[in-house]
Amino acid sequence: AALVPSDLPLPARFTVPLPRPAQRSGAEISLVQRYAEQEILPGRRTRVTGYDGMYPGPTIRARRGAPVHVSVQNDLDIGTVMHLHGGRMAPEHDGYPTDVLLPHSGHVRAPLMPGNTTVGARSYVYPMDQRAATLWYHDHAMDFTGPNVYAGLAGFCILTDAEEEALGLPSNERDVELMLADRSFTSDAQFKYPALAPDQSVPGVEPLYLAGVLGDVMLVNGAPWPVHEVSRNLHRLRWLNGSNARNYRLELAPGGTLIQIGSDGGLLEEPAPRNSIALSPGERMDTVVDFSQYPVGTLVTVRNTLGAGPMDAVMQFRVVRDAHEDARVPDKLSQIEWLRREDAVRTRDFIFALQFGGGHGHSAAQARGGGFIPHQWTINGRPFDTETDWATPNYGDVEIWRFTAVAAHPVHVHLAHMQVLSRSSGAPRPSDAGLKDTVDLGPMESCEVIARFDGFRGRYVMHCHNLEHEDMAMMANFTVV
Ligand code: C2O
Ligand code: CU
Repeated sequence: AALVPSDLPLPARFTVPLPRPAQRSGAEISLVQRYAEQEILPGRRTRVTGYDGMYPGPTIRARRGAPVHVSVQNDLDIGTVMHLHGGRMAPEHDGYPTDVLLPHSGHVRAPLMPGNTTVGARSYVYPMDQRAATLWYHDHAMDFTGPNVYAGLAGFCILTDAEEEALGLPSNERDVELMLADRSFTSDAQFKYPALAPDQSVPGVEPLYLAGVLGDVMLVNGAPWPVHEVSRNLHRLRWLNGSNARNYRLELAPGGTLIQIGSDGGLLEEPAPRNSIALSPGERMDTVVDFSQYPVGTLVTVRNTLGAGPMDAVMQFRVVRDAHEDARVPDKLSQIEWLRREDAVRTRDFIFALQFGGGHGHSAAQARGGGFIPHQWTINGRPFDTETDWATPNYGDVEIWRFTAVAAHPVHVHLAHMQVLSRSSGAPRPSDAGLKDTVDLGPMESCEVIARFDGFRGRYVMHCHNLEHEDMAMMANFTVV
């Protein structure tokens, strides 16, 4: 991935207060996708493309067993697709990339691949019949997920259930969702994304950014390197890597422990103390930090040991007051139905690779006149197309999927929640714990995951969650039959 340099002086770190996204709940939620001006850099206005004109979009709070209908209106001039990442829903509500919600005009500038398009507004039905988890929703439009998410189309969806509520974990203002995202800015404080065509008349990024777009300003919940004041007690911190292509390894300075309590698919069985936590794009880490480990007045910096220069930190906590509470994280959090290798009826291989030279008849973007594409990212030698099935698991079957790559790719599978069985580079990593929907596949590595394909039948996608790779066709269909 390559860094887009900002054209303005970078803002000071650790001065802007951490924003909390707006909160929504209820059986019916309506969201309007629109352009809005938001103060992201102090004293400047940035145009965001946001759900309800906000970046991040409102946090949807849901409870297991209470389905949520989200009606989305598209007041933009581009096509959109809403996807609830980590959610389990029927395929027609999953945000298949060509099921585009068109703007009211009914037209978009780039040629559309065939799909079930809707004009102006549609609704998505989320059954919420799954474990409590930190989910997120974001745009998933064919060819344009990278620019659309970068412009602001992303928000949290936090699902709870009775089991979790009984644990007495920190709640309300001590349950903090944190969307990490790097961005760069033009001299007039606008998001600077290196699209070939900012009006989306053709897909793609400038060739230098083929491997991914990195920014030089760290945003958490849409604020640059924010600071958050905390009392000396337990706080639940839910980390989401909402970046297009940046990886993080977070550590507390001056030292301290992050207690991991959950991952993509909900709670772990037991809390796991960590010195650092790793997040590739799309992954979530649910943690508790006990700020009573620091005296009042301590500035606790969240460092990113994978970042250089100003990107070596993401935010800061300021311990401002004592708290009289001796709450602790319970020793037992949840139960997970572990799948065993013997449960699997087959193993499938998925090879993630870069293909040089265009000219492949099935290149979606090329076929639609997307211009010369010198490289494309492929799965099993093919760039994405809507007609092909890369896998057809039978409903209810347990399968082992083996992901292999030369370069790093965060592999995201819709519908199924995976358990990591093995990594060729060594044992599963701490970030593999629990149920996963996104797995950080390292360079020159094979990673085996196991999952049961149930809940719904139909066509879903799996893809690389480096959004530039995804937009350059590193995506595959699988159909549960
Ligand atoms: Cu978070 Cu298919 O995406
Ligand atoms: Cu990738």
